[in-house]
Amino acid sequence: MTTLNALMKLNGRRALITGACGGLGRVMAPTFAELGADLVLLDRSDTPLVELAAEVTAEWGVDVVVRHCDLESQATRDELIAGLLQEGRLDILINNAAFVGTSGLQGWGVPFAEQSIETWRRALEVNLTAAFHLCQSLVPLLQVTGHGSIINIGSIYGEYGPDWGLYKGTSMSNPAAYSASKGGLLQLTRWLATTMAPAVRVNAISPGGIARGQVQAFVERYEARTPLGRMATEDDFRGAVAFLASDMSAYVTGQNLLIDGGWGVW
Ligand SMILES: NC(=O)c1ccc[n+]([C@@H]2O[C@H](COP(=O)([O-])OP(=O)(O)OC[C@H]3O[C@@H](n4cnc5c(N)ncnc54)[C@H](O)[C@@H]3O)[C@@H](O)[C@H]2O)c1
Repeated sequence: MTTLNALMKLNGRRALITGACGGLGRVMAPTFAELGADLVLLDRSDTPLVELAAEVTAEWGVDVVVRHCDLESQATRDELIAGLLQEGRLDILINNAAFVGTSGLQGWGVPFAEQSIETWRRALEVNLTAAFHLCQSLVPLLQVTGHGSIINIGSIYGEYGPDWGLYKGTSMSNPAAYSASKGGLLQLTRWLATTMAPAVRVNAISPGGIARGQVQAFVERYEARTPLGRMATEDDFRGAVAFLASDMSAYVTGQNLLIDGGWGVW
């Protein structure tokens, strides 16, 4: 029998993480590196991607390359994809980059009547269309590895509607486009899982709210509504992505793992 330790290892595999400089990306990169994976870290050009790559290489000794790319632009994605196909090696794809609730976009984190169609389109392009484009274009690499794995990063808001009581009296909001893009990403996960099987497994995780200095009133209500009694930390997601990326989950595809402290169980 293969040891669990061996099943977990990612040595000799290469993982692409989009949105690598974000809160979650920053913990996923060293998580995969600790398990032995080489990395392609992708984010926008205004992020400290080079520094992150240097930190991960220094700590874990894996090969890390950096790709600056604005995923909102199809032409820029095409360039990225051409380069990746030429490099010719990819085992794991993590679609993590997104416009999130706190992204300071116009017509985004505002009341329903003020949410703009232009921003809706931009969010769908980054959060959903870019993931479709990367999955479709990188099939040739992922399917020849014998253990290709895609992990899409969803959200509780791709699964459930917002509880507006949490936001009352705060300036925080929850854009419709965010929910719709994440719901689409979760369904894309199931569609791809049957389409890309058996060569590539496709799964999602759906995080609950991560503690990021939100206003006290919101945090208190959120915690009271969460069976495990707290908001998430970035570390809460490391085990799940390690599981889904590795042979630990060799018979798991098309699943959405809600990592939300029980928020959606009620
Ligand atoms: N933070 C939460 O509470 C929470 C909850 C549920 C789901 N999520 C999901 O987890 C994932 C990571 O979220 P996070 O909290 O780390 O967000 P974050 O904002 O800290 O990181 C997102 C990263 O994506 C990058 N990005 C955004 N637009 C991009 C573009 N056009 N091209 C390339 N890169 C782009 C950003 O530069 C950033 O580094 C997202 O998919 C998010 O929707 C987060």
